[in-house]
Amino acid sequence: MAKVDILLGLQWGDEGKGKVVDFLTPKYDIIARFQGGPNAGHTLEFDGKKHVLHQIPSGIFHPGKMNVIGNGVVLDPVTFSREIDGLKPYKLDLHNSLIISGKAQLIIPTHRLLDQAYEKAKGESKIGSTLRGIGPTYQDKMARVGIRAADINEPDFESRYNELKKRHCEILDHYDFDYSLDEWENDFFAALEVLRGFKIMNTEYYLNNSLKEGKSILAEGAQGSLLDIDFGSYPFVTSSNTISAGACTGLGISPKSIGEVFGIFKAYCTRVGSGPFPTELHGQEGEELRQKGREFGATTGRPRRCGWLDIPALNYAVMLNGVTQLFMMKADVLSGLDELSMGTSYIRSETETFEFPVNFTSEWKVKYEVFKGWENTSFKTYDDFPESFRTYIQYIEETIGVPINLVSVGPDRKDTLLKS
Ligand code: IMP
Repeated sequence: MAKVDILLGLQWGDEGKGKVVDFLTPKYDIIARFQGGPNAGHTLEFDGKKHVLHQIPSGIFHPGKMNVIGNGVVLDPVTFSREIDGLKPYKLDLHNSLIISGKAQLIIPTHRLLDQAYEKAKGESKIGSTLRGIGPTYQDKMARVGIRAADINEPDFESRYNELKKRHCEILDHYDFDYSLDEWENDFFAALEVLRGFKIMNTEYYLNNSLKEGKSILAEGAQGSLLDIDFGSYPFVTSSNTISAGACTGLGISPKSIGEVFGIFKAYCTRVGSGPFPTELHGQEGEELRQKGREFGATTGRPRRCGWLDIPALNYAVMLNGVTQLFMMKADVLSGLDELSMGTSYIRSETETFEFPVNFTSEWKVKYEVFKGWENTSFKTYDDFPESFRTYIQYIEETIGVPINLVSVGPDRKDTLLKS
């Protein structure tokens, strides 16, 4: 039987997963999203053009591949329909290359409003949510009151929608939050028509039957392991399991069917939104990295916080996911520095640890290792890497114990170097 390989982010999201999925897609028959929703922004650049996908799997640009939105995803019909519109110029056969799980939870307009009301009420302690309604939708899923994609074709859909909306409006009444729903609802109902044009089905059967037929599947993770609801820097996390285990529940495949786990990380770290960031660089250094790496959110445009690579955090993510191969992104952004640092352990009250703390508070300090920089990354193969860059890579491989098989040195498909 064929296997499901998983590709996921090992940091706080924005590791460059879109580019890698796009690069790997030719090897797979099916690309499947298993969690998250329009909070994701997977950027693909090819032929000098840039395209950001939020809910549609990144295999969509490759003709002949099937793309699956799995049951673990929360789907916003409005964003979905806008994405479909945005893909029109590419003349893709979308209706035959994209299927949707009937069990994917729907984000309705009031989920977004609730997200905004909750964040506003949190004030200083806000999570920094993308405000796409992710948390409230997963909340309703767990509370067993949500609406699923298959429900849009049921005769009682409208009454179920109204019931959920009423429930949400009653909650909103308790918040100091003004809103008007009319325009959102018009967009929502128009978008449902677009969604109805797609195959909504039991994708778990499709995926398992495809495996039996020998078809290969790539599961495309969204966000990052340090945003995982269980293992991330709680409560500053997203509301889904972003780690590899989430692919089983989010697609309906067995753990036995998992093959490779590709862990994507940036040569440094970034984070959008609030929450602990042990190796964060404040001031000029952080600003320089942000400008050079064009570190602004693909979904919200927010500036990303930037910092050095964090080895204990990376090690933690590798362990949780069972990563078999590492892919390092944006190595070019670090070029031109005389020296650079890497966080190698955490210290509190003179006790050193290599574990990611339950709560990373200001009492914790980071111990750093300093590395010599490299001038540029305009090399064409893995073997051309300058000595200092090689040392940086080898240090990571040796401390983490997993090979770095791909290094990305630029946004385009062609700026991707593979270990031979
Ligand atoms: P939510 O998922 O929109 O509720 O946001 C929760 C936290 O996860 C916030 O700090 C967001 O900035 C962060 N987040 C959510 N999705 C992404 C993503 O795709 N990339 C990076 N950060 C994300």
